[in-house]
Amino acid sequence: MKTLIKTLPKAELHLHIEGSLEPDLLFELARRNRIPLKYKSVEELKKAYKFNSLQDFSDIYYQGASVLLHENDFYDLTWAYLEKCAAQNVTHTEIMFDPQTHTERGVQFDAIVNGIYRATQDAEEKWGITSFLIMSFLRHLSEEEAFKTLEQSKMFQNKIKAVGLDSSEKGNPPSKFKNVFKAAVKMGYIPLAHAGEEGDADYIWEALDILKIERIDHGNNALQDPKLIEEIINRDIALTVCPLSNTSLKVVKKLKDHPLKKMMDLGLKVTINSDDPAYFGGQVNKNYEEIQKALNLTKEDIYQLVKNSFNYSLLKDTEKAERVAELAEVYYELEQ
Ligand code: HPA
Ligand code: ZN
Repeated sequence: MKTLIKTLPKAELHLHIEGSLEPDLLFELARRNRIPLKYKSVEELKKAYKFNSLQDFSDIYYQGASVLLHENDFYDLTWAYLEKCAAQNVTHTEIMFDPQTHTERGVQFDAIVNGIYRATQDAEEKWGITSFLIMSFLRHLSEEEAFKTLEQSKMFQNKIKAVGLDSSEKGNPPSKFKNVFKAAVKMGYIPLAHAGEEGDADYIWEALDILKIERIDHGNNALQDPKLIEEIINRDIALTVCPLSNTSLKVVKKLKDHPLKKMMDLGLKVTINSDDPAYFGGQVNKNYEEIQKALNLTKEDIYQLVKNSFNYSLLKDTEKAERVAELAEVYYELEQ
């Protein structure tokens, strides 16, 4: 099973680049940029990676991101993630980034986008890994601030494919961002959002009906509402599920209780992703391995999940078909 998971070419659709910052690089960047850290060592820092909620995690995540200042920092961060993609046969990735986490600290918008984008271009040249960027608005901030970010992105539209919505969900419903999403869609961005991670099914309804999102990040709480499940299936929208994130943030008690298989059995289209791999205990392949063991998933289940990762990506239909055909070839060869 481990070989199957490792060998299949796959796409990762839910990944926060700031959440891929591993402790070693975090310390190196802190040293390089002369930023004092609360933690004396990598070990001490790792001990702080115990969360009870999304809010708990966010506090540490923003502290970690504070070592990122210059274009080269964003390049190094993204390159380190893409190296891991290459090692795991991730051949396509859709990378979220939170400009406001950085612009609030005085970092230049162009340093963020150019650093991330340049690394994705180099990875495409070196390994053939393709990437899209998703610019996410922080939902604990105001819609007005999201508008400022949207405005700043105008010069970089050729480098950004979609907009997203992340950070603390409860108390910050999708409807708060109605106007900025409308403007973003008008500019040509594809609308996506985190919904139903800690928020109830109502938040998913709002994300679908008000923000008109084309993919749901997490979406676990869709299971509270049979009508919503039916609606998501009818619209042929996928959920980007993140198993190790869900246990780390106590969205799910244990992996054995994870609703992934139930979602699949209901006919929901789900994909497996790492969310914030440096904080939640594993890259995307580890997420596949752990959830496979916990739920006793079959090879066919794994194949279906990987197929979904391409079919529900933001790639063009012709490209999706090619990627799925390549995947099928590898899968059937392994099955021989
Ligand atoms: N949820 C919401 N916001 C986030 C997450 C998440 O899982 N990761 C990084 N920002
Ligand atoms: Zn996320």
